[in-house]
Amino acid sequence: MKRALLVCLMVGGLVSNAAMANADLAKAKNCMACHSVSNKVVGPAFKDVAAKYAGQKDAEDKLTQKVLKGGSGVWGAVPMPANAQVSEAEARTLVKWVLSQK
Ligand code: HEC
Repeated sequence: MKRALLVCLMVGGLVSNAAMANADLAKAKNCMACHSVSNKVVGPAFKDVAAKYAGQKDAEDKLTQKVLKGGSGVWGAVPMPANAQVSEAEARTLVKWVLSQK
């Protein structure tokens, strides 16, 4: 049973598209401890973030810095801590993925 599951996961990994890979990155980097795509957890739902910044050209840069350095006051008083576990390139990849949620 366990082995079957593992095979499934491996096959799934091979055919997974970029969106899946980014979801996995978000999990691996602990973003999903505080965020979910469609519900508020500690931080805002990623689809709410996407809706808020839709059409804003500088959003990608701004949010990349926010993910790296943390901050508060946009969604409430609870701060997002700095995410030192992600590189700037990873943060940008994650932000692009967040902004593509609907
Ligand atoms: C300890 C909990 C926590 C973790 C871990 C966390 N976040 Fe957040 N995040 C928050 C909170 C709280 C906010 C709202 C901050 C605010 O109101 O300014 C937030 C806000 C955001 C925003 C919107 C920022 C804005 O200014 O509108 C994005 C994008 C985001 N997080 C992405 C990420 C990504 C990507 C990761 C993983 C690298 C991550 N978060 C990890 C708690 C967290």
